[in-house]
This record gives sequence, structure tokens and C-alpha cells, in this order.
Amino acid sequence: MNSPTAENRQREKIPTEIFPTADEACRELARQIALALTTRAAEGRNFVLGLATGSTPVRLYRELVRLHREEGLSFSNAITFNLDEYYGLNREHPESYWRFMHDQLFDHVNIPASQIFMPDGTVARGKVFDGCNEYEDRIARAGGIDLQVVGIGRSGHIGFNEPGSGRDSRTRLVTLDARTRQDAARDFVGEANVPRHALTMGVGTILAAREVVLLAWGESKSVIVAQAIERPPGESVPASFLQLHPHARCLLDQAAAAELTRIKLPWLVGPVDWTPTLARRAVTWLSLDVQRPILKLLDQQYGERGMADLLTERGPAYNLNIRVFNETQHTVTGWPGGKPNADDTSRPERASPFPKRVVVFASEPSDELLGMGGTLARLFEQGHSVTVAYLTSGSLAVPDEEALAAAELVAECGLPETTELHGGALSGQPTVLNPHLQGPSLSPAQARLLKFRLRRAEARAALRKLKIPPERARFLNLPFYENGRYRQFHATSTDFDLVARLLGELQPHQIFASGADADPSSVAGVCFQVIHGAFALTREATWWNECRVWIYHSPEKTWPADQIDMAVPLSPDQLAHKTAAIFQHKSQRSQTPHNAAGESEGWLVAERTARDLARLYDRLGLAEYDAIEGFRRYSPTG
Ligand code: GLP
Repeated sequence: MNSPTAENRQREKIPTEIFPTADEACRELARQIALALTTRAAEGRNFVLGLATGSTPVRLYRELVRLHREEGLSFSNAITFNLDEYYGLNREHPESYWRFMHDQLFDHVNIPASQIFMPDGTVARGKVFDGCNEYEDRIARAGGIDLQVVGIGRSGHIGFNEPGSGRDSRTRLVTLDARTRQDAARDFVGEANVPRHALTMGVGTILAAREVVLLAWGESKSVIVAQAIERPPGESVPASFLQLHPHARCLLDQAAAAELTRIKLPWLVGPVDWTPTLARRAVTWLSLDVQRPILKLLDQQYGERGMADLLTERGPAYNLNIRVFNETQHTVTGWPGGKPNADDTSRPERASPFPKRVVVFASEPSDELLGMGGTLARLFEQGHSVTVAYLTSGSLAVPDEEALAAAELVAECGLPETTELHGGALSGQPTVLNPHLQGPSLSPAQARLLKFRLRRAEARAALRKLKIPPERARFLNLPFYENGRYRQFHATSTDFDLVARLLGELQPHQIFASGADADPSSVAGVCFQVIHGAFALTREATWWNECRVWIYHSPEKTWPADQIDMAVPLSPDQLAHKTAAIFQHKSQRSQTPHNAAGESEGWLVAERTARDLARLYDRLGLAEYDAIEGFRRYSPTG
């Protein structure tokens, strides 16, 4: 755990702890809950827990279930109140929060059903107001909530208190924010199926709990988390109202904490040890902040931004500027697999061996194109032996309409057998087939298989577009995905073994992967854990002596320029080529979450991100490219 000094926490208005992983944070919170339950039980008292849904608390619930099963933790004195529920979904709907809570926690611990309370999403519209008041009364009758667990939505919501929710709001019916509905779209296989309304405890209800713990994991939460913790409280980020609570705290993993001042710009909140990495970060930040290229930064500008000690240690500005400029310049290469027979002392990749055996992991088909399509094409063009390993089929992300359209095509040939997926198992998320859609009749298993085949065909078409033979693709169909469902994936040793076996077979010199900073419950996050686990399983193999691992970023967001170890520039033609390949993933149009600019199409988001990175390099005073794909070097041993 990162133990901050009061000094570097000075901008944080909610006490915040940063853990290496979400699992460690959840273990800590579960331990505290267990202690409270047992202490209260010994006193003959109940413990009133406020609970949340979404991906965030899944690991906490897993740990609580483990404590119950393995260490005999009893929930007989727990009374629970959930934050929210979709309005209009009945309890047994696969996406109802009632179903979620039972699947994740209640069905696996000894909590009496009479002590579980959740807002009822099925009450008639005319009775909603009374139902909400009754919910508040029940909380009061239970003696108030002792500990409320909350997650945070990217809109800044807690519960379903969307921006605009007042500090004193109470349990009520709300309309969901557009971004919240986009974020839920994959659960409901399309935004159109996401309910428009929900019932939620109000901000005031949450603030009335004796203790509130906000959990957040993954880089997608980092910006909103920093706003909630450091900016003045207000309705535009309802989670920021937790600043007003005397016993609120935040537990974050490192990726979610990345935008906090003490992590991002630590020299602004106290003295720092000016390592070369931090010096590069500070100089890059200064250049962007004062809008001057690195080589034009003046001693005076360092002084005015509180960086005089950096100059004392590593200055003057002239020397420091040149050093950081060169470091940044040396990240740029048109030879992502290394330039054969060239001096490679200042290049991000080694010249030899050449050609290299390269494995590009994609958590779902198209991820590799969105994050590194230009680089992938280059690697192949430059003669390397490239394998694209698709870890999951991506079938859950295909809308029903696409499956039905495909079914029309194959109907005449007979529908496919359903044994092709890994182990023939199709026990995971039922494919939502909208009964109102007209078309060939498909069983859920057939629909899922068709969706998988569709994505495989698209992946092959996209590789062809990049002039990479489709035989270079491997489809692993990892069982955690085929047998799982969104937010609840759970990788097992079978997943790790499949990836380890592939690595052992291919013995790569270079590995490209993504998802290192992703929400650990997301497909990309679980895939990264599997890859990491496979690294551990193969660590003793001799091929590791010659292997480097590179992480590519998600299409929505690249890293700050100072964190990039390899930058592969793309010409306008190369960017167009990459986009043309992404277009082959026809079933994925509008399936990628919107970025900050409100764009939803994957290709638009990926283009903008790559162009933004090029613009960033340009603003720092480096050569002006149309687009850049960025990579971080990753140490497989941690
Ligand atoms: C959901 C829930 C919230 C949750 C948030 C974040 O819509 N109503 O209670 O905290 O959005 O979801 P996740 O944890 O999946 O990121």
C-alpha cells in the first residue's frame, strides 16, 4: 500500500488509499467488514451494510464469499440495502441488480432473505414515490447504514445519482445519463435495450451512512476519480459530495489513481527525488503547460512553475531540455521490430535477432487494429514472423441483428453445429435474442456460435486488408469468456495454460499486449491477467532471454507523452490503411464506448487518439507526423 504523507495528500479532500491491485484493496475492505460483522455479533447487534453493483465490487463480494466458505464468516447479523436498481426490469431479468446481487453474494452466504433490501424496479409508476419513501423508512428502521460501499460511474455518479443530483437528494426515480447508458450497452447487447430510468438512493441518503467507502479500478476511472477527490464539491460530479462526509474514504488501484496530483504531478505537492523518469515527466508537462517546445523552455519558466530544484539538480534548462528532447526523440521509430544492421543503441528495439518472432495479443478481435493496426502492418511488411492471437471470440459484443443477418446467409446451407467453441461449452451469458426481431429462428447457442464465426471472419478479412495472410491468426476462445458474462468473468488455470502453451510453441522475441491498466473485470483486464499469468508459467523458458514485451494502449486513450517508450509514426496513407482494416469489423460499428469527443465508431476513436498523440509530439517540438501509435515497455517479472 502506498502510504502518503500529509504533504502530498494536500489536494485530496477525501482520504485516499492506493493499492497495487484491486484484489488487495478488496481483501482489505472485506477484512474490515468481517471484523465489523463479528464484533457486532459478539455484542448481539446487527451490522447494516450498503451495497453497490457494477464491475467494481465483484472482487469484494468474491472475497466475502471466500471468507464465509473458508473462514466461517457469518452474515446472519448483516442487514443490507442496495444503492439502486433499473426501473422496469423484473427481478429475474439477467441484468437486474437483484439478480446480480444474488449471483454475486446473497446466494453464497448465510444472510437471511428477510434482511436483504433492494429498491423494487417493478412498482407501478404511480407508486414509485411511496416506494422510495418506504425504502428510506426501512433504512431508518434498521438504525441507518453503518458502512456504504459505492463505485463511481464515468459520469461521476454514485448509485445512479447522475450529474445534477443535489447534495440533499433522496431515494427517487432518475433518468439515466447518456454516458451511463452507453457504458451499460454491452450488458444489454445494444444501447437501445438499456433501461432509461432507475431507482437510486439519493446523495443525501448515501451521505447519511456512518461510513462511506468509494472503490475504483482501472484507467478509465482515473480522470473522474481525481475530479471527485480534488476539485471543489458540486453537482456536476456527484461523487465529489463525499468530500462533505466526515468518514468517507476512497480505495483505488494504481491505474485509477493515475490522475491524482501526488501521482501525476508530485512536485506540485512536495519535494521529490528527481529521477530521470520524473524529470522527463516534469519537462514534458512544463512544455505543454507553457505551450513552448521542449528546446525553447527557459530557466525562468522552470522557476515560475515551482521546479527550481529540478534545475539545481539537473539543469540548467539548456542541458535539461536537450536531454529530455533526445530521450523523447529516441522513442520514435518506423521499425517497431528493430532496424536490421543498424546501430540500435538509441532505438527502442534491438536490431537483432532479425527477423523476429512476434506475437500480438488481442483481447477481442479488432483490439489489435484499434491500438496498433499501423504497427502491425509494419511488422509484417518488415519481414517479421507475426502471429495475431485472439484471446476471446468477442461474440458477446455482436448485436442480435448482425447474427440474424448472418443466419439469413447460411440458412440455405443449414444452421451450424454448436460444438465448435471451446469444449463445446455454452454455459455463459445467454445471448439476448430480441423476440421482436423477425428472421430465421436461432437457438441462443446457435446465435452465439454465429456471432463467434462472424467475428472470426471479420478478423480474417481485416488481416487480409493489411496484407497479412489470415493463417497468421490464432483464435484461442478462452473459456473464461465463452463460459462467462460481462462484469463477472473469472479466469482459471485452463485459460493460463492455453496462453502459456501458445507462448511455448511460438517462442516469441517480441510480445505486444494491452489491458495492463484496464478495469480488472473488463475483457481486456481479465485477458491481461491471463497473459501475465502465462508469463509466470513460462518464466523459466530460455526464449524469455531474448523476448521483450510491449503494451499498446486502448483506442480511447493514449498515455501521456512522457510515458511512451516507443512511438511508431503513421503517414496519412498508413492511417487510412489501418482504418480500412478496422472497417472490416462491420458488426462492431458503434460498439466501442464513446470517447471524450463524443465519437462512438471505433475507427473514429482510434484515428483521433493516434492523431492526438502525433499532435502532442509536435507540440513538444518533435517532427510533425499525421498519427502515432504509442507503446510502453513492460517488465514481465513485474
Ligand atoms: C453503475 C451503478 C453504480 C456503479 C457504476 C460503475 O451504473 N449504478 O452503482 O458504481 O455504474 O459501474 P462499474 O463498477 O461497472 O464501473
